[in-house]
Amino acid sequence: MPVIAVIGAQWGDEGKGKVVDLLAEKAGVVVRFSGGDNAGHTIVNHYGEFGLHLVPSGIFYPGVTCIIGNGVAVNPAVLLGEIDHLREKGVDTANLFVSDRAHLIMPYHTLLDGLEEERRGGKAIGTTRKGIGPAFADKTARLGIRVGDLLDKESFLERLRSILEGKNAILTKVYEAEPLSLDEVYRQYCSYGERLAPMVRETVALLAEAVDSGKLVILEGAQGALLDPDFGTYPYTTSSSPLAGEGSLGTGLGPTRIDRVLGIFKAYCTRVGGGPMPTELADATGDMIRERAHEYGTTTGRPRRCGWFDGVAARFSSRINGLTNLALTRLDVLDELPSLKICVGYKVGGETISHFPASIATLERCQPIYEELKGWQSPTSDIRDYEKLPAQAKQYVARLEEIVSCPVSIISVGARREQTIHKAPIL
Ligand code: GDP
Ligand code: IMO
Ligand code: MG
Repeated sequence: MPVIAVIGAQWGDEGKGKVVDLLAEKAGVVVRFSGGDNAGHTIVNHYGEFGLHLVPSGIFYPGVTCIIGNGVAVNPAVLLGEIDHLREKGVDTANLFVSDRAHLIMPYHTLLDGLEEERRGGKAIGTTRKGIGPAFADKTARLGIRVGDLLDKESFLERLRSILEGKNAILTKVYEAEPLSLDEVYRQYCSYGERLAPMVRETVALLAEAVDSGKLVILEGAQGALLDPDFGTYPYTTSSSPLAGEGSLGTGLGPTRIDRVLGIFKAYCTRVGGGPMPTELADATGDMIRERAHEYGTTTGRPRRCGWFDGVAARFSSRINGLTNLALTRLDVLDELPSLKICVGYKVGGETISHFPASIATLERCQPIYEELKGWQSPTSDIRDYEKLPAQAKQYVARLEEIVSCPVSIISVGARREQTIHKAPIL
């Protein structure tokens, strides 16, 4: 059995939760490898509807081991709340483990995320304010505190004391905010540590053993490729890599062990937060998509910006992720439209370009060049067999495959697990 990385290939919210929940049925292990509780992965199955922020989307199968990998920034209060909620709904969380190397989101991270956003004013990134940027900055600056650190209270106190001194100086002197109490933060995080302790593991060996014994391992991404700090619309990005490569770095599974990279795309585009989005529709069609699809953020409730499928961005995303297979979600959302557009190039400064520019100033000026296809104008949510899709829907899917140069394996026509068309095997 292989290792499959399942990643968001646009700006996030592509339906990673739905697809991982679906594929996890046959898995031995599901491991989240990046992001933090900025993620919101929606799953609709026989247990109900869930918006998971940290717990991997394989949790609904009691036999599946779920790991929060070293690449995730963990807010322990959010994680413990999520576990409690799952247990209340009858979901077994006995097989959930957290890497001792995962970094912690501390109270100063969430405070600073909000304060930094306020300071940016009109140029705010539109972050989720979950402390993600400050936590990953601290990881890189070697100022982080890791999950495993909570298990040794004495050395945790020493580390927290020295780090908090610096953070309080920033909070009070730069932002004129109240300082945090060492005693309160220490006590609170010790109590989180006590509850998390039974779940904390050295997860590299756990994962390697699962792969060696032939189990299917799913590496669950968060966010989407165009929010990557290197390749996304920097600085309007997140702060950890959502790319397939991070599936290796964020879990400790070497890159040669990843067999397939499944890129999830919506049949159109959405983005939440600031930053360029060349195919955004600030018109009635955009509003129609938002309302029909209920495009509001799972984590923050903010309305998502909606637009046509961006083939230029999709091709770029395929390259930087090394996609081997595609999953196309929310095809049903387009059911009523008389015609559909796909962006196949950009016009900028009188020039036609086919690459995704690095500069956001250039991206802001890009005018999409569209190809128009006929809509199918009939319902698809109850279709389970690819051949039964309306001809125009099949043409739309085939054109996307051509543009991205990658075959579609899965088509999703509704939020529920069973509302899925298996077009071609992933392996
Ligand atoms: P994720 O962050 O990538 O897991 O995606 P989100 O959960 O944030 O957003 C995806 C939304 O689309 C959720 O509300 C899902 O329930 C919903 N969804 C997923 N697949 C489909 C689909 O094929 N059709 C429709 N109508 N909704 C879908
Ligand atoms: P999932 O996993 C969509 C966006 C935020 C903001 C930018 C930076 O559900 O697809 P951050 O809080 O990470 O510093 O915010 O990234 N963002 C997401 N957008 N889906 C997500 O996760 C996102 N996580 C972060 O809106 O624009
Ligand atoms: Mg989401």
